This record gives sequence, C-alpha cells and structure tokens, in this order.
Amino acid sequence: MPNAMSNDQPSNEGLPRRILLTGCSGTLGALLRPWLRARVDYLRISDLVPPSLALQPNEEFVACELSDREGMLRLLDGVDAVVHMGGGGNEFDADVTLQANVIGTFNLYHAALEKGVRRIVLASTNHATGYYPVGTAVTADMPVRPDSLYAVSKCFGETLSRYFFDRHGIETLAIRIGSCRVRPTFKRELTTWISHDDFLHAVERGLVAPGLGHAIIYGVSQTRSGWWRDDDSARIGYRPRDSAEDFRAEVEARGDTYPDGHSMRVWQGGTFTEYDYRKPQPPKPRP
Ligand SMILES: NC(=O)c1ccc[n+]([C@@H]2O[C@H](COP(=O)([O-])OP(=O)(O)OC[C@H]3O[C@@H](n4cnc5c(N)ncnc54)[C@H](O)[C@@H]3O)[C@@H](O)[C@H]2O)c1
Repeated sequence: MPNAMSNDQPSNEGLPRRILLTGCSGTLGALLRPWLRARVDYLRISDLVPPSLALQPNEEFVACELSDREGMLRLLDGVDAVVHMGGGGNEFDADVTLQANVIGTFNLYHAALEKGVRRIVLASTNHATGYYPVGTAVTADMPVRPDSLYAVSKCFGETLSRYFFDRHGIETLAIRIGSCRVRPTFKRELTTWISHDDFLHAVERGLVAPGLGHAIIYGVSQTRSGWWRDDDSARIGYRPRDSAEDFRAEVEARGDTYPDGHSMRVWQGGTFTEYDYRKPQPPKPRP
C-alpha cells in the first residue's frame, strides 16, 4: 500500500465523498484543504475566519463558532465524515480553550450523532502525555498525563470520542500530533516531528481504514529517539515514510543545550509544562 498520497497523484479509493474540514484557515487546515479537495466530490470547509485562498467549484465555506451548538448541527448536515482541525488552545485564556475544545468537541459529536455522521478524524496532541519524563517509553494505553490546560482539553476530546464510539458507534481516529512542520528545526523535534506527507497519510488512514473503531495514534514520522510506541498505527495502516534522522546531524550541529533541570530535558512536553493559565504572559513558546 502506498504511503502518503502526494498532491499530484490523487487517489480517492475508499474516501468518503462528502467531507467537512474544520479549522480550514489554520496551518494544518490549509495543508489538508487542497489534498482533500482533490479527492472528494464535495468539501465543506469551516472556521471562524474565511480562508485566504479562493473557493474551488467543489468547495463551500461556512463560518462557524465551534461552541455554537445550532451552528454545528447545520455544519454537519449532509456530510459523510469530518476532519476536525478547528480549535486548539490559548493557554492564557482558559475560556477560549474550554469553549473551543471542550464545548466545541461535544457539539461536534452531538451533531455527528444527530446528523448520522459515522467517522471523525480528531486533532489531539502529543502533549496529552507531556508529563511523562523524557526517555520514558509511552504507550497509547497508559494513563494520559497532560502538560497544560490545552492538553487536558484534548484528552477530553479523546475520552469523549471513545464514549461516542462505545455508546453510539461513531468511529474516530484521534491523532496525537507531534510537531507538523516542513522539517525539524530543534532538538525536541527530532523526536516529535511529523512531515506534511506523513500527516496527510495519517488523516487518510483515519478516513479509509476498515474497522477503525476508536483508534489513537501518535502523529510522528520515523525517528530513532522516539518515546511513543504500541499505539494503533499498525492496526490502521499508518506507516510513516519520512524520517527525522535525515535532519539529525544538521539539527544537532546547532547544539541546542538546556541546563540541568530545564523542562526540555525533564518532560516530554518540554516548555508546555511551564505554562500557567492564570498568568497573562507566556514563557518563550517552543512547541
Ligand atoms: N500544528 C501542529 O504541529 C499541531 C501539533 C499538535 C496538535 N495540533 C492540533 O491540530 C489542530 C490544528 O492545528 P493548527 O496548527 O492548524 O492550528 P491553528 O491554530 O493554525 O488552526 C486552528 C484553526 O481553528 C480555528 N478556531 C479556533 N477556535 C475556534 C472556534 N472556537 N471556532 C471555530 N474555529 C476555531 C482558528 O481560527 C484556526 O484557523 C489544533 O487543534 C491543534 O491543537 C497541531
């Protein structure tokens, strides 16, 4: 089976024909949009803000606030599957995170149930287990140890999606996305990096894998310094093709050094463990 399907050779084998993409104006939404559009009959895209690029004939943009329950019911009307990239987090405004990721994700699953949508690809985060020490082998069935309020809200989404599968049969792939970038640029990313192609491949598996049920994978490319294992990757056919090793020498030559006890050396979540939602000023962000 081919790995990441490139944009120039679209194959729509097994893909749902009508898809909703939330968070279309964000970084990953913008990456997914042309990829999905080339493979489906109809792509509904949604965000708080309109996308910067013009709509194509098989696309429709619908502005929607995730915390608007009625709006979400309309948003999911008539689609077969959802790729949910909307939301995220603002660690310095708890209400923004709670509204988008807690209320918003509930609204999403409620609307899926009401509208008969049977499959969702959910953006979760590697920070769901960010409070495991660096070097610890973490498996997807170990207890979550979120490193921030943002990560707590993503764990809520994972748990909620589990419930909606067990109770209502709505299938979900929750991707604990690492660091989705063109290339890894600093040391932590040698462990957490996922290439654009591998990310698209992961989403594709979420949309087409037979018998998906409820699955959790770490969205990460190949790396020899990996912390995460034994998730549902093999079961659903996620096989990353790109490797952080291709960049290791270059990144290590820059000599990122952190003093003993620095969050980057202690916790898998790195500087996310330094956030305090009560404080207005972020520490220097490093994803
Ligand atoms: N980019 C990464 O490497 C990475 C890593 C881990 C997890 N994630 C998760 O993947 C998802 C997509 O990531 P991204 O980098 O594209 O994020 P992003 O912030 O660039 O995009 C998120 C989009 O969601 C929209 N949004 C936010 N709150 C909303 C609300 N209340 N109602 C409607 N729309 C709302 C924003 O307008 C934005 O366009 C996010 O949930 C993020 O937490 C991303």
